[in-house]
Amino acid sequence: MKPSYIVSAAVVLLSRPAAAAWRAAGDKTIQYSSVPGFFLQDDNSTDPSTFDYASVNFGLINRTYPTDKRFDPEGTATLWERFEYYVASLNSGCRPKDNVRYKVLFMGRHGEGWHNAAETFYGTPAWNCYWAEQNGNGTAVWADPLLTPAGEVEAYKANAYFKDRYETQNMPYFESYYSSPLSRCTITANLTFGDIDVPEDRPFAPIVKEGFREGMTVHTCNWRSNKTYIEEMFPWYKFEDGFTEEDELWKSDKSETSEAQDARSKAVLDDVFRTDDKTWISITSHSGQIARLLTALNHRAFRLSTGQIIPVLVKAKLVERKPDATFDAYEPYSTCDAPPVTSISGQGCVCSATSSGLPTATATAI
Ligand SMILES: *[C@@H]1O[C@H](CO)[C@@H](O)[C@H](O)[C@H]1NC(C)=O
Ligand SMILES: *[C@@H]1O[C@H](CO)[C@@H](O)[C@H](O)[C@H]1NC(C)=O
Ligand SMILES: *[C@@H]1O[C@H](CO)[C@@H](O)[C@H](O)[C@H]1NC(C)=O
Ligand SMILES: *[C@@H]1O[C@H](CO)[C@@H](O)[C@H](O)[C@H]1NC(C)=O
Ligand SMILES: *[C@@H]1O[C@H](CO)[C@@H](O)[C@H](O)[C@H]1NC(C)=O
Repeated sequence: MKPSYIVSAAVVLLSRPAAAAWRAAGDKTIQYSSVPGFFLQDDNSTDPSTFDYASVNFGLINRTYPTDKRFDPEGTATLWERFEYYVASLNSGCRPKDNVRYKVLFMGRHGEGWHNAAETFYGTPAWNCYWAEQNGNGTAVWADPLLTPAGEVEAYKANAYFKDRYETQNMPYFESYYSSPLSRCTITANLTFGDIDVPEDRPFAPIVKEGFREGMTVHTCNWRSNKTYIEEMFPWYKFEDGFTEEDELWKSDKSETSEAQDARSKAVLDDVFRTDDKTWISITSHSGQIARLLTALNHRAFRLSTGQIIPVLVKAKLVERKPDATFDAYEPYSTCDAPPVTSISGQGCVCSATSSGLPTATATAI
């Protein structure tokens, strides 16, 4: 590990808003906005389908900040150093009221897992109606799947790019790490950050949180292994309070509703913003879940392919709480009991007559 003096002294001088106000504010709720003008990803002219963080400095826009004159009068600092100082100034005690705080969230999608490979192999309708409900096919296992070799390569690419940014651009190290409990994320986080020489006071010790897991469809890839399994694979990972040994949230016959997933996304962000007063935060999660987190942050839609990463400068504000909406947590999900007779891309599949499942099942992909 690197000694902690590497951390920019300028940032240490700035105090943070009172964390206690955020923890105690039960009568308040948090309103999020993603602040435009700092990353290319929130610009409408950036095409998510062709975007690659590793060709454009994670999307950080080359610009000046109001704090440049004070922080970097000689013009020798890197863009990341100037951005770090600017964000710290936004959070400094003398500027904002206690009801506003800023964080930089880097959300990474896991590398390709065996379930991704299988969906490509079988086609999406047959995958949704039948194969995704199985644990595997005898060759590949996709209940809480591991990464494919291609998925590992995606994580190593992120690893190399972070190392390069830290070494050549003085990009700030993350202060906190979070991961979904699903193996494809705990493994991706480890391959991305596990061997990086980080400062002592910014260790890579992710907190595993249920709130960052993928939408809980009946697909077995969205079921998680037990806590012991995760702990044995990564003894230095931490778990949020109340993390249960067995997966008590996933159901084999019902899917989480869209409303429930949106509420859980807001809740997990609220938990991070209320309990973690750090600014630079890494989250390893999933395509569907990151899409919901972006919605909760009022960021435009930005779909990530496997291994891709999106940073967001988030402004969070404590506002008066409004009554919570009510909704169903789970809903039925129709599937076939055997491989479907036909499977038509964009439409769905027809279950075989001998199977006792519903005659037709519609694909509802996440
Ligand atoms: C981006 O596109 C959305 C949806 O089309 C639109 O509402 C928004 O105003 C646009 N933002 C900018 C900055 O142009
Ligand atoms: C950013 O823009 C400035 C001014 O146009 C230029 O001198 C500098 O080389 C650019 N930096 C990067 C990292 O592209
Ligand atoms: C099982 O699925 C994998 C894709 O994940 C595929 O490569 C393999 O050929 C399949 N095995 C069988 C027996 O169909
Ligand atoms: C975690 O990452 C380190 C560094 O890349 C690697 O040596 C180790 O095998 C990884 N552990 C697991 C369980 O993937
Ligand atoms: C946890 O899961 C692992 C792997 O599936 C299994 O071998 C083990 O028996 C389970 N442990 C407990 C305590 O249930």
